[in-house]
Amino acid sequence: MNTGSTQHSPLAVIILAAGLGTRMKSELPKVMHGVCGRPMLSYVIDAALSVSPERVVVVIGPDQEAITEILPVGCERALQKERRGTGDAVRAGLEPLRGFEGDVMVLYGDVPLVHGDFVAGLRQRHVDADAAATLTTVLLDDPVHYGRIVRDGDQRVARIVEYRDASPAERAIDEINVGLYVFRGDLLLPTLERLGADNAQGELYLTDVVHLLLDSGQTVASFESDDPEMCMGVNSRVELAVVNKAMRRRLLERLMLAGVSVEDPSTAFVDWGVEVGRDTLIRANTHLLGRTTVGAGCEVGPGSFVCDAFIGDCARVVSSHLHDCVIGSGCSVGPFAYIRPNTVLAEKAKAGTFVEIKNSRIGEGSKVPHLSYVGDAVVGSGSNIGAGNITANYDGFDKHPTTIGNNVRTGSDTTMVAPVTIGDGAFTAAGSVITRDVPAGALGVARGKQENVEGYAARRAARRLREQAGDAD
Ligand code: UD1
Ligand code: MG
Repeated sequence: MNTGSTQHSPLAVIILAAGLGTRMKSELPKVMHGVCGRPMLSYVIDAALSVSPERVVVVIGPDQEAITEILPVGCERALQKERRGTGDAVRAGLEPLRGFEGDVMVLYGDVPLVHGDFVAGLRQRHVDADAAATLTTVLLDDPVHYGRIVRDGDQRVARIVEYRDASPAERAIDEINVGLYVFRGDLLLPTLERLGADNAQGELYLTDVVHLLLDSGQTVASFESDDPEMCMGVNSRVELAVVNKAMRRRLLERLMLAGVSVEDPSTAFVDWGVEVGRDTLIRANTHLLGRTTVGAGCEVGPGSFVCDAFIGDCARVVSSHLHDCVIGSGCSVGPFAYIRPNTVLAEKAKAGTFVEIKNSRIGEGSKVPHLSYVGDAVVGSGSNIGAGNITANYDGFDKHPTTIGNNVRTGSDTTMVAPVTIGDGAFTAAGSVITRDVPAGALGVARGKQENVEGYAARRAARRLREQAGDAD
């Protein structure tokens, strides 16, 4: 993992992820909760990897195997058998690092907005200060439940006191412990072994390492952040929502700086990893989620929900719901279309108003403009599906395919009872229920013949008059 020569001593990173996250009130481990579509822990791992450490160890608890599945190659894991606090978790993280010589950085898995540049700055500060430990602090207007930084008369860090253990005077301190540290590796384990659990939570606090190091004559440095938002820890779903909003703004800003227009950033929701090409306009109330890619020069929204979709260049997707589908370049979708999994719209195809398409391919330049359901179908190129068409693909037991050739024109209100094939260049008459194949170039008609009853209206009116006269007698 190390990229090569550096004037720094070797670095290992321990990321704490074993906590129960009781305040989340969730079955899911806290660090697996999503921030812009991705577990919050993944962002912390990214920040760690960005400084090219020799080793990265993620500390997980019992029954947290799900976390292992999201660890990138090269990331090790350590098991904290009993959750006895952050100090105990770091001790567990040091186990696979036995024999490692160098600095040990500790990051908390519930502080996901921290980024690589900041982590690099922290490391540099630690090296410059030649300290036994360097901890990150920030000033907060409302420091709520965070650990407070107690400084001595010379403004040097004296200790960290947890909110629950703090006196009223200490609670009034507005400088807090962010939970990002670098320690000299050789001093860390011996100091952890001296931790006691005589505190409000009965836990082994990593934060107590600070005064223990100072007591034994070591230097502790601090690295002050000027970005309170980046320092936020997630302990409740309220904080999760705040962090999601901040991350979303960061992702949108990145897109805008890369040439994407965002009509209303407060109502545009973009997941981590979503790609959008230049000169695309993301309009208001639009979600681009999961593994979605949008090409250049598109217009998506207002009011579109797009998840796991590929959208080519110069497409329009207006007020529509798209999931797990491919929309070719120059396509037009919506308003009010529902494009379901395994649907492919080839170039310049159209899925218009109140149209649902599932597991189907609509060929180049073909159109399904109004009020139709197309399921398990293949439509060739240059065809037009009339208003209100239905592919009746389900017989109550199985799904069946509909094949529609090139340059077909189906009439309005055609129902195609699958399995059925409409040949190239064929037509269907409006209102037809097509149960047999229509050969290429033919017209399929399947409806009752029209009869006109002459003079009907006059006879009807006369009958009504006679009835009223009878009532009056
Ligand atoms: C911790 C700090 C606090 C700081 C705050 C910053 C301690 C004692 N307190 O409080 O000073 O202001 O973070 O966000 O460190 N974890 C384990 N095993 C455990 C307990 C926790 O791995 O036994 C992990 C959690 O998964 C989490 C991290 O350690 O990722 C922090 O634990 P948490 O309980 O959230 O501590 P805070 O109360 O936020
Ligand atoms: Mg926390």
